Amino acid sequence: MPEQIKDNFTVLYEIAQKINSILDQQELLDKVLEIAMSHLDAERGFIVMVDDSAVHGFNVVVAKNFSSEKDARESAASSSVIKKVLTSGEPVLTFDALSDERFEASRSIVAQQILSITCVPLRLQDKTTGAIYLDSTKSRGKFNAETMKFLAVFGNLAAVAVENAQRYDNLKTENARLKNEVSSVNLFPGIIGKSKAWKAALDLVQRVIDTDVSILITGESGTGKELIARAIHGQGRRRDKAFMAINCSAIPEQLLESELFGYKRGAFTGANVDKKGLIEHADGGTLLLDEVGDLSASLQAKMLRVLQEKEIRRLGDVESRKVDVRVIAATNKDLREETQSGNFREDLYFRLNIVEIHLPPLRNRAEDIPVLINYFMKKACETHGRNVKAIDSNAMFVLLKHPWYGNVRELQNVIERAVVLSRGEELTEEDLRLQKYTEEELIRSGLTLDEFERKLVEKTLAESSGNRTRTAEKLGVSLRWLQYRLKEWGGDAR
Ligand SMILES: Nc1ncnc2c1ncn2[C@@H]1O[C@H](COP(=O)(O)OP(=O)(O)O)[C@@H](O)[C@H]1O
Ligand SMILES: [Mg+2]
Repeated sequence: MPEQIKDNFTVLYEIAQKINSILDQQELLDKVLEIAMSHLDAERGFIVMVDDSAVHGFNVVVAKNFSSEKDARESAASSSVIKKVLTSGEPVLTFDALSDERFEASRSIVAQQILSITCVPLRLQDKTTGAIYLDSTKSRGKFNAETMKFLAVFGNLAAVAVENAQRYDNLKTENARLKNEVSSVNLFPGIIGKSKAWKAALDLVQRVIDTDVSILITGESGTGKELIARAIHGQGRRRDKAFMAINCSAIPEQLLESELFGYKRGAFTGANVDKKGLIEHADGGTLLLDEVGDLSASLQAKMLRVLQEKEIRRLGDVESRKVDVRVIAATNKDLREETQSGNFREDLYFRLNIVEIHLPPLRNRAEDIPVLINYFMKKACETHGRNVKAIDSNAMFVLLKHPWYGNVRELQNVIERAVVLSRGEELTEEDLRLQKYTEEELIRSGLTLDEFERKLVEKTLAESSGNRTRTAEKLGVSLRWLQYRLKEWGGDAR
């Protein structure tokens, strides 16, 4: 008789302590099987766990002393003992498996000359989660009722430990997933947006970050072009070098040229010292050419040279200097169209536009409005020492419907002003002071004449409750003209 009988209780207690301290699932299963086998002096053993998605409804999760893993799997699959234990939830013990009438039909027992078998379920409350199987080919009656009782209790202990390890494993996976999620959110800190369109743009950003390709960022004013350009630099491998940005539309041509390329002393009156230009300052880093569509023809030619030859010449200098800059260009114009109308060099366009990242207007991604509001509200509260916590539903409704021709920049301004002006902890429609767009603002928002005409007609129509005759009167046009235009725009004005 195996000696473990001497004090099964103490032994079980020690085992429980041992296995409960193992949190790694595989290590635990290994240990459980090892304990069971050594305790019952079994030759071979395996543990199966119920898995509804598996072919046989269970998987062999650990096996010992089978000639191969496959062998263990096959033994388990053909074992009528396993099936019986898993379905009945009751332990099985055979003194002489070969002559045990319960297993007459089991070919595996006969084939393998198995003499003694014991198999106990792993049980959690009323659920059978798996089974421990032990056998011996050497002697009959190896396992007795006493050892089986021991194994049954042990099975219950093990089931709990396995369940815990599984939970711990799931937690670990879940934790890793969360960490991942957090890091993907934080990849672009301060860049907010969850709409599909915005995420698609960010996805593209992510793919070009660690390359040196030229990027053209397009989108209306205030959609975040500069923000994205800074992110590309700040997250990419050039981040330790300079990021230089220049707005090509805001500066007179000569000045822009000397800003970009620098000059040699004496190049022109007032050039008293040698001066490095922005391109040289951006060496190793990134140069943002904002409003690149406004670059003059001569500067377009010079920029093309920078991109092709990777060198610059300071104004008044004879010598060229090598530069390594990543150029990002941004524009709210349709550059393609500009090339067709001859305002922009096609060769430069293709050089700049290796990858185009288009930032959609805010009105086409309403999903981003609430998250942006929240973000700008918190930011404004910090800057201005306010304590606005929420926005009432009416104000939210108004913000969601606003056309946002100034895009995110306009939204940011509206929220900041509202936070400053608000008296309570909740922003109201009154705090927003949203103005209807005036004609002047519509012009400033960069609409084409046709778009402007349409906006004006829509606005006047709305003010006249849809009455076309009155609208025509107010606009000083004929009713026929109005009807003709409305039809052209698609019947009803939006
Ligand atoms: N997705 C965004 N998340 C947070 N702030 C944004 C976002 N898009 C734009 N902004 C903010 O809006 C303002 C305008 O963005 P900017 O990059 O200057 O636009 P653009 O260059 O297209 O005119 C900036 O203050 C910028 O930080
Ligand atoms: Mg800008």
